[in-house]
Amino acid sequence: MKDGKFTIGILTSGGDAPGMNAAIRAAVRTALANDMNVVGVLHGYDGLINGEFKALGARDVGGILQRGGTILQTSRCKRFPESSGQREAIRKMNEADMDALIVIGGEGSLTGAQALTQKGIKTIGIPASIDNDIWGTNIAIGTDTAMNTIMDAVDKLRDTASSHQRAFLIETMGRNSGYLAMMAGIICGAEIVLIPEKPADQQEIAAAVEDAYKRGKTHAIIINAEGSDIRTTELAAMIDEMDLGFKTRMTILGHIQRGGSPTAYDRLLASRMGVKAVEALMDGVHGVMTGLKGRGVDYVPLADVINNKRKVNMEYYRMVKVLAR
Ligand code: F6P
Repeated sequence: MKDGKFTIGILTSGGDAPGMNAAIRAAVRTALANDMNVVGVLHGYDGLINGEFKALGARDVGGILQRGGTILQTSRCKRFPESSGQREAIRKMNEADMDALIVIGGEGSLTGAQALTQKGIKTIGIPASIDNDIWGTNIAIGTDTAMNTIMDAVDKLRDTASSHQRAFLIETMGRNSGYLAMMAGIICGAEIVLIPEKPADQQEIAAAVEDAYKRGKTHAIIINAEGSDIRTTELAAMIDEMDLGFKTRMTILGHIQRGGSPTAYDRLLASRMGVKAVEALMDGVHGVMTGLKGRGVDYVPLADVINNKRKVNMEYYRMVKVLAR
């Protein structure tokens, strides 16, 4: 756009998360309110390299606040981690007179944002991932909605589990993080949770299932994170074979956890972060992520975000066991 106005590019990258659209809407409307242009980049970093750009006006982001997914679409781009991909992307940004870029996504996407920062691009990250594995923010956009989806599913599964006195194995997402499984353990009252951060102890699992049966529980709920060291199918076979009282059934929740209308919490968080991302650029701040700290949204250096690993709080893991009595 050659009208002399400050032009912000915006993209969503990696796994989609409910609330991404709310963040896009907030950023676009804040920018427009401050006399800036916004260009939507389609298909994440792939679209940045290919120059897939689309000017965004206020009406283009109408009716999307409540929609899951991302109107800009997303990708897991193989070319962007390479310098040649980044150079090409910067060339396309210059051709489009883009002055800055807002990247909405998870750890990998924010790593891409930091690479651009190091190459002199004014970049702002907004954390969005259902896994909640991003350092520097209490919670990422999409996590709350995913937890509510899991809660709804597990509540339903418990009804049928109790009716048949079964052990139900439920697999949540979380390739590298046990956050969703662990929190689901608390909010859904699971007997056992299995997470990538803690090696599974088969004897301990068997003892807990048998104990639940002996104590007269009508069901046993076992929540297994996708990335734990035991596959849900193997676990079900093991419990069946050991004849611990309960017969087993299993449900893999899968990508249903990534979809759906964002919760009130996610809409609010995404809106606040979208506004803050544009305000950062107006204040001359860049190379940062918007992070929720206490009650406020702060700027967290992207370098710190990608150089630190967020760990799950094992207090919650212990809490699941205490509350399962
Ligand atoms: O969004 C993060 C995540 O949900 C991981 O927990 C999961 O392993 C991964 O995405 C799967 O995503 P996809 O099937 O899109 O590669």
